[in-house]
Amino acid sequence: MKYTTLALLIVMSLTLLSCNQGVDSPRGFSLPKGNAEQGKAVLLTYQCLACHTLQGVEDKNIEKHADINISLGGEKTQIVTYAELVTSIINPSHKFSSPYSAMAKTPDGKSKMNVFNDVMTVTELIDLVTFLQPKYTLLPFKPTVYQYYPR
Ligand code: HEC
Repeated sequence: MKYTTLALLIVMSLTLLSCNQGVDSPRGFSLPKGNAEQGKAVLLTYQCLACHTLQGVEDKNIEKHADINISLGGEKTQIVTYAELVTSIINPSHKFSSPYSAMAKTPDGKSKMNVFNDVMTVTELIDLVTFLQPKYTLLPFKPTVYQYYPR
């Protein structure tokens, strides 16, 4: 029994490790530093705020999407890395934020987010991500509170 648990643990750790090192891993991914000011302009040009809100940025000239309203930035429990942000933009169906699943997906499981891959330049993407990434703040880790049960 003990050995089964041990074997299971080893398999699990190997699976986790291979995620970081396989050919599909984000290892080695790096973007050059972009221009945040330009990035804000990109956000407005592509009308991201039709479906998103971002604290401190308003766009009164666009029509809001009737049933999609997802906030960008803010407090997250996981670091929002450049790689994750780029993935959200160029491959929106890759991963869904769980609270939004219903409003975010089409019945066939695709993201309702527009695909910008054929219109946005790489420089625009880099600037956009440079602008967006600092908008995410990391929530401090909350340790489990163990109750004290006097005997
Ligand atoms: C037609 C609506 C729509 C537009 C326009 C849109 N998005 Fe989205 N976006 C979504 C939906 C729906 C999701 C949630 C599902 C998903 O992750 O694909 C999302 C998710 C995201 C996420 C991940 C958010 C998170 O907390 O996980 C980012 C980042 C993002 N969008 C950035 C952008 C940027 C940048 C633009 C403009 C270039 C943009 N979006 C334009 C609908 C849209």
